[in-house]
Amino acid sequence: MKKRALHEDPIKHIAWKGDRLVVLDQRWLPRSVKFVTCKTATQVAKATTDMVLRGAPLIGCAAAYGMALAARRNKLKDVVAAEPVLRRARPTAVNLMHALDHMLAVAKSGPEKTLSRRMAAAAVQYFEHDLGYNAAMAKLGAALLKKNSNVMTHCNAGALATAGIGTAVGMIRQGWLTGKVKHVYPCETRPYLQGARLTLWELMEAGIPATLITDNMAAHLMKTRKIDAVIVGSDRIAANADVCNKIGTYGLAILAKHHGIPFYVVAPSTTVDLGTAHGDRIPIEERSIQEVVEIFGSKIAPKGAKAHHFGFDVTPHALVTAIVTEKGVVSPANGANLRKVLNN
Ligand code: MRU
Repeated sequence: MKKRALHEDPIKHIAWKGDRLVVLDQRWLPRSVKFVTCKTATQVAKATTDMVLRGAPLIGCAAAYGMALAARRNKLKDVVAAEPVLRRARPTAVNLMHALDHMLAVAKSGPEKTLSRRMAAAAVQYFEHDLGYNAAMAKLGAALLKKNSNVMTHCNAGALATAGIGTAVGMIRQGWLTGKVKHVYPCETRPYLQGARLTLWELMEAGIPATLITDNMAAHLMKTRKIDAVIVGSDRIAANADVCNKIGTYGLAILAKHHGIPFYVVAPSTTVDLGTAHGDRIPIEERSIQEVVEIFGSKIAPKGAKAHHFGFDVTPHALVTAIVTEKGVVSPANGANLRKVLNN
């Protein structure tokens, strides 16, 4: 099989058409390939909230395109009005806030008559930067791995979550290309099943040997098989290097520490939030409990059941072996080292 990145594939997961944004509807993967067309910023915000598109860097890229759509009439007030609508779409992924701050600054930096053109160019550039960050992180990250590693990952931090080859999955893909990765164990990632539906799909499409496990198999696997590294992405990294990522990541980090397994976080600088001092201050998205008590519309819990649905958790930086950014590797993971690397 020819080895290729998802963004080189005929199925484009996000495509900017100048007057609209076409996104692959990730809710349907891998069962069907459907697309959603967004012509307004409000439609981009809804697609983001509804999980048509997801993954912190892709959420940021889509928001940048949403701002470009809002600028189509060359009116600054349209862009200013769209910004809070997009900002409310998902609370945890700070890439969203980063993209909106950037696009608002671009909007205000020139004459109104050129607004549409400038915003479209800035959104395309924002996307291309993320693509480049993915490639840089993949190389830096793969260099940290031993030859023939068995690795575990969580959620989907792959091509579907970014503009390029992914963050954690990008490192895994590069590791596989260079003989560092032998086998991948993606956790299924309840309740949204991003690991089972999306990461496994990406890995199988790329021909990377992978075996799916349920979330509660991770400890057993670490104890009984040789797991050489856990590699995950992030939605927000606080100033002290605490890492927020998909619910279940914290548990994996504790397990990795107990079993002496390195725990790597791969995330671009756009995921770092120096304005949030530590992880406990990161807003944790709580989603509908329907997503917990039902699977694909079928009830799995008794009628009237109470449930929690926390979308994310925070891993204290002391449990993180290294944070791989496009600017360099932060190790040990702490605030001082994070700032040093970001200033590179
Ligand atoms: O709720 P999701 O699917 O948007 O959550 C995604 C994750 O938690 C990813 O690990 C994170 O965004 C990093 S994606 C490169």
